[in-house]
Amino acid sequence: MSRLLQRCPFLRRAPIPIPASLLARARPLLVAAAAHCPVLARGVRGGAGPQGPCPWMGTLGAAVQRAPPELQEDVATGSDTEEALPRLQLPAGSFPYEQFFAERLAAKRQDHSYRVFRTVTRHVDTPPLARTDHGTDVAIWCSNDYLGLGRHPQVLHAATEALQAHGLGAGGTRNISGTSWFHVALELALAKLHRTDAALVFSSCFVANDATLSTLASLLPGCEVFSDAGNHASMIQGIRRSGAPRHIFRHNDPAHLDELLRHTEPSTPKIVAFETVHSMDGSICPLGELLEVARAHGALTFADEVHAVGLYGSRGGGIAERDGLQHQLDIVSGTLGKAVGAVGGQSHIVPLRVGEAAACTRVSERLLTHDGIYIQAINYPTVPRGHELLRLAPTPHHTPPMIEHLVECLSRAWEAEGLPLMPPGDPTCGFCQRPLHLELLSQWERDCFGTLSVPLCA
Ligand SMILES: Cc1ncc(COP(=O)(O)O)c(C=O)c1O
Repeated sequence: MSRLLQRCPFLRRAPIPIPASLLARARPLLVAAAAHCPVLARGVRGGAGPQGPCPWMGTLGAAVQRAPPELQEDVATGSDTEEALPRLQLPAGSFPYEQFFAERLAAKRQDHSYRVFRTVTRHVDTPPLARTDHGTDVAIWCSNDYLGLGRHPQVLHAATEALQAHGLGAGGTRNISGTSWFHVALELALAKLHRTDAALVFSSCFVANDATLSTLASLLPGCEVFSDAGNHASMIQGIRRSGAPRHIFRHNDPAHLDELLRHTEPSTPKIVAFETVHSMDGSICPLGELLEVARAHGALTFADEVHAVGLYGSRGGGIAERDGLQHQLDIVSGTLGKAVGAVGGQSHIVPLRVGEAAACTRVSERLLTHDGIYIQAINYPTVPRGHELLRLAPTPHHTPPMIEHLVECLSRAWEAEGLPLMPPGDPTCGFCQRPLHLELLSQWERDCFGTLSVPLCA
């Protein structure tokens, strides 16, 4: 029986399938076994099943058990309760897909680049707290809902009203089923915010960056792209897909950009692409200098303001608005998924460099399980190997006692791991290797992080 039940008979998620031939014969056994399933027992017997870890689902089963009661019901009714389908048998000599993927996954687990998505469910009344699947509350220190707008009463009211009046979703893409007034109004508002001729809303900024850069660079004849070394994967993907020759300039380094641009023909179409606030190290680009260099060489400029929109400039238009340079940028991308708190996926981003994947994962795990603090470990491929970090983003909901608690717990974790503490002095940014400007930190940041490894470059 234990061999039969290696795969959960009710939820199609566990790794080892039950052979179809055995499944038919095992049906009475499976029905009897349902009585032992903590999720399905209620359906089978109309009562509660025995408590304890799920024998088939391992950690996933345990997570289902620990889910808040209202979600547990959803999981049970939303899961696939049909009989498991037999796997397709491949002809002898076929590529060993299962073995290949099992080996790749094992390698990722080994080097700590395997992603574990933490179940942390936010509650509207208690930001920045969220409930873990262990039933405890943790303070989220790594959210991109920078301003807490995702739970602002006015935002919730507007969303609820729109849902009640117009239903959920658009019923299809804009190509197929028309566009709504909400989209048009949003695009007008965004164009106004960034002082551009027009705006176009995509499903996420990943799609926007990829689509815009790949389209532009492949459309312009003989186009060459100049890309900041720290650019986000979405921009890199768009540039690669365009097939255009690309040149990588050092992170936030206008002099290096100038040097590279000098080697191109003046008449060649060129695009210079960069982020204004870097997504991982929080550094702010020297926008004026980058624009000046690009303009001098006849290049178009593409700035990703994803981490700046809502936070900089008098109207939240980003770094370009803060620096009075909106009229000089050719194309700007932003997102509604971060400060606006809606969809997708100081400076205000505070990266703590760990520099080693296993230690980074252990520190994150320790903070979550011991200290009630959730900070995602950022490992490869989001950052290069050796640049692993914890990325913090304080919000208006983080109180001074929470900050003190965070600093205490971080210091203990740093000590336990034997991680180096950087003396307050003249550190350099581990990402761009330029001197850090600790004077740019606010007083509490200096108190809290002055002795930790905080890359903050101008
Ligand atoms: C710099 C940067 N650009 C673009 C994106 C993609 O944004 P979205 O979440 O809207 O897809 C991200 C996401 O984290 C990002 O950090």
